[in-house]
Amino acid sequence: MKLIRLTVLAAAALAAPVTFAQGAKLKVGLMLPATGTFASLGTAIENGFKLYVQEQGGKLGGREVEFVKVDDESEPAKATDNVNKLIKRDNVDVIVGTVHSGVAMAMARVAKDTGTILIVPNAGAGAVTGPMCAPNIFRSSFSNWQTGYATGEAVAKRGHKKIATVTWKYAAGDEMVAGFKEAFEKAGGQVVKELNLPFPNVEFQALLTDVAATKPDGVFAFFAGGGAVKFVKDYAGAGLKKTIPLYGNGFLTDGTLDAQGTDAEGIFTALHYADGLNTPRDNTFRLAYAKAYKLQPDVYAVQGYDAAQMLAVGLNAVKGDVKKIDEFAKAVQAAKIDSPRGVFTISKSNNPVQDFYLRQVVGKENKSVGIASKALADPGRGCKL
Ligand code: BEZ
Repeated sequence: MKLIRLTVLAAAALAAPVTFAQGAKLKVGLMLPATGTFASLGTAIENGFKLYVQEQGGKLGGREVEFVKVDDESEPAKATDNVNKLIKRDNVDVIVGTVHSGVAMAMARVAKDTGTILIVPNAGAGAVTGPMCAPNIFRSSFSNWQTGYATGEAVAKRGHKKIATVTWKYAAGDEMVAGFKEAFEKAGGQVVKELNLPFPNVEFQALLTDVAATKPDGVFAFFAGGGAVKFVKDYAGAGLKKTIPLYGNGFLTDGTLDAQGTDAEGIFTALHYADGLNTPRDNTFRLAYAKAYKLQPDVYAVQGYDAAQMLAVGLNAVKGDVKKIDEFAKAVQAAKIDSPRGVFTISKSNNPVQDFYLRQVVGKENKSVGIASKALADPGRGCKL
């Protein structure tokens, strides 16, 4: 009897070899911006991620977590080298990053080639969960299209017919405008002008002069971090706020309100998180975050927290073995992620299917004033798992 049991155990061990040493720590490579216009977004993501790990006693999937960090500077030209350093030099088990779509696309290429698990906690590049999609590449945030589309629906409902768009000229801005245009024009509106400037420039005066001359019913803008602070202030400073209402996907006013002050007051945006949700899940999260960091959380902190939750779901299913990609992916795709934003699921191309809130700036908050789009899924074109 004893012999049979031993034989069964030995056979099981052979069938499912464990690919990491017993007791080995889980090395998480955090590739986020620590400098430049997106630096504060990187900090919030890291804070959120670490808060969840701390709530799990410092372990995910039964393995103690250790971090290796790299500042990606939101610089696509350095992205391949940076991610290769994490994988080849530092031997990380998984990678979490990043904010900028151009950097994330380079990361996804390397993750796909090496089979390393990658969780993207912000960058919305459609390619990452579209044509480049793979069983080891996940996103805890949004696709750029989703945020633009939800905002387009909301702006159309406010009765506007002619909108000008202003964004940085790179994948994120282009894809957000495309999503916005799709929803807005489907509802009978028209995008009459598409203005942009290179990332991360913040010389907005010429664009604002163009907006004033075009006289649209409103403006849709995508900027985030330091760039969003300056755009909202310059828009008000140019005297446009009173005559041409400013809208954006919520990056325009998230994590930025202290610096924007009254220039942001009243702005409507759409995003998958808002202040004042007042759910038990969000209240608990906000309290824990405020206690840990002496700061209020923003959407980026939530995305970081949920990246850790998704990683935990996958790692629990494979008992910490990051090489069991298919089982990991199946578990994440079957999960309901209990996020502070509200429960969301993961599509077959590994992107969140989630509600988008309509928010309005009241004082220092992006107050939820309703739902802009319910259970919105990215079309995820081209993904074959
Ligand atoms: C992006 O590059 O995908 C991005 C950056 C900041 C906020 C939202 C999206």
